[in-house]
Amino acid sequence: MISYILLFCILISSSTIESKVLPKYISKCSIANADEFSKCVLKNSKKIVPLILNGDKNLKIPNLNPLFIEILQLDSGSSLNLTLLNQTIRGMPTVNIKSVTYNKDSRQLQFGYEFDNLRLDGQYAINGKILILPVVGNGKGFIDFQKPKLVYTCNLDIIENKKGVEVIRIANASLKADFDKVVFYMENLFNGNKALGDEMNKFLNDNWKEVITEFQELVKSPMTTVFSNILGAFLNDLTYDAAFDGV
Ligand SMILES: *[C@@H]1O[C@H](CO)[C@@H](O)[C@H](O)[C@H]1NC(C)=O
Ligand SMILES: *[C@@H]1O[C@H](CO)[C@@H](O)[C@H](O)[C@H]1NC(C)=O
Ligand SMILES: *[C@@H]1O[C@H](CO)[C@@H](O)[C@H](O)[C@H]1NC(C)=O
Repeated sequence: MISYILLFCILISSSTIESKVLPKYISKCSIANADEFSKCVLKNSKKIVPLILNGDKNLKIPNLNPLFIEILQLDSGSSLNLTLLNQTIRGMPTVNIKSVTYNKDSRQLQFGYEFDNLRLDGQYAINGKILILPVVGNGKGFIDFQKPKLVYTCNLDIIENKKGVEVIRIANASLKADFDKVVFYMENLFNGNKALGDEMNKFLNDNWKEVITEFQELVKSPMTTVFSNILGAFLNDLTYDAAFDGV
């Protein structure tokens, strides 16, 4: 009797818990040829973007149009503390996926993207020094990253899942970012002293290139998370064979 129940359980579990596969609207790409692979993934990516912009509950992808982030914290040593709260990030629909490369030996996957702009709007609290100037304040503000060019890199690690099957896991994600220009605005700086606040905002914008080296984590960190989540939604927990042809 017990073995009968066991068998029954095994039959049920093996028929309901199927291994993960790619969604039907994605065509499986072959990694045998680097150029073909790149073309194939680019084609898939362009198909996927409009499908996931408004989020996908099944794939656990949040709404990206706009993306909402409760808190973003910048720790640049002890010289500047900047916290951004309740941020909406607009501009995701302007994405243009420019390049895809995959090195099958190191299993490193790289995407090049461009956006028209990515703009963060919300509340800020700042205290410390930017470059050499002391700054303090809290209120509403925005940062507008214009023509961001992002290069996202990650590894497709192979891990063993609970059932002892080797599956893909996105790991070591990193992002390089480059911008044509960045526009800042912080309302209510220096306890609402308008003259000082205007001066600081002008200084930030006049020196955006230097300032942005401190501030780029504010866009890099959420974008890295977003790309990893999206890529992970499709690739994580797939066997290598299920993800790619020509393995
Ligand atoms: C952020 O949003 C939450 C929920 O809408 C709200 O309760 C909170 O006061 C907001 N925080 C700021 C600093 O605006
Ligand atoms: C920034 O925050 C840390 C930890 O909360 C604190 O130790 C440091 O003094 C703060 N720096 C400034 C400039 O406010
Ligand atoms: C990637 O991360 C793994 C841990 O997940 C680590 O063992 C490995 O050294 C990392 N590889 C690179 C190239 O950073």
